[in-house]
Amino acid sequence: MSEAITILGARGMLGSDLAPVLIQGGYSVQALDLPEFDLTKPKHLAHALDGAQVVVNCAAFTNVDQAEKQFAAALAVNGPAVGALGLAARERGVFVVHISTDFVFDGRLERPYVETDPPNPINAYGRSKLEGERALQRSGCSHVILRVQWSYGRHGANFVAKIVERARTGAELKVVADQVGAPTWTADMAGAIESLIRHRREGLYHFANAGYASRFEVARFIAQELNLPARITPCASAAFPTPATRPKNSRFNTARIQAVLAAPIRPWQEALAEFLRS
Ligand SMILES: NC(=O)c1ccc[n+]([C@@H]2O[C@H](COP(=O)([O-])OP(=O)(O)OC[C@H]3O[C@@H](n4cnc5c(N)ncnc54)[C@H](OP(=O)(O)O)[C@@H]3O)[C@@H](O)[C@H]2O)c1
Repeated sequence: MSEAITILGARGMLGSDLAPVLIQGGYSVQALDLPEFDLTKPKHLAHALDGAQVVVNCAAFTNVDQAEKQFAAALAVNGPAVGALGLAARERGVFVVHISTDFVFDGRLERPYVETDPPNPINAYGRSKLEGERALQRSGCSHVILRVQWSYGRHGANFVAKIVERARTGAELKVVADQVGAPTWTADMAGAIESLIRHRREGLYHFANAGYASRFEVARFIAQELNLPARITPCASAAFPTPATRPKNSRFNTARIQAVLAAPIRPWQEALAEFLRS
């Protein structure tokens, strides 16, 4: 009989790309999201876990700037609710896959981050997500935490979609050149999640498409690939103040997860070019 997996936050950007990958992998998938499922409601948690062997938590308060003003709301979903999920999973023997973020780091390190580097979030969203990681670890359930970064996919607001939309107008586009990371397709994240589930890897892992670039370089790549008329120029983060400060260095060292995967993680350019073509 196939293993039963529940995806929480299943209508979000990652969740909606994850379901087909798991179904293709032979799993039986239950997909839950607001409004019928609320991570902060204990009764909903119990119902979501009954009959499942694995739960993947993609549900989160993900609006980084809004989290500055609505910290309590962000924390409720990203922090204690993840701990409650862990406790409910431990009671039932369910394996938890939880998704976290590079925003747990301050971005001041001058090399890619490894899993053992100490977190030090510099915005409210990062603090709430770190609280969730710690609450899950304290719960004592069997779990893996996958930190991802600079996500893009077919559903939901993201950096790639914003650049495409603005670059189509042909207007001049100023894009920050002092934030470096790797744009990462949710479809590629989904493959990594499936491997972690299949091999029941526990602990903490970093995942991103291979290579690094500044947001400016990513924007220029997108415009070139799509042959868009935009004039793209670099600028500093300081020129675009946002409610939440972003880390300058979002680079991940992915050696640990690479050892679990059957194939080399593909370069961000290859994944993004395929995404844009599709
Ligand atoms: N996007 C990125 O660049 C990025 C980077 C690093 C890490 N991550 C992490 O990746 C994971 C997946 O995020 P995503 O990119 O797929 O974001 P997303 O598109 O915003 O998906 C999150 C989903 O969770 C739902 N949700 C919010 N509050 C909930 C609650 N109380 N109960 C149940 N569901 C709730 C959202 O519903 P509504 O839309 O109705 O609110 C949405 O469907 C998250 O853990 C996020 O922190 C994302």
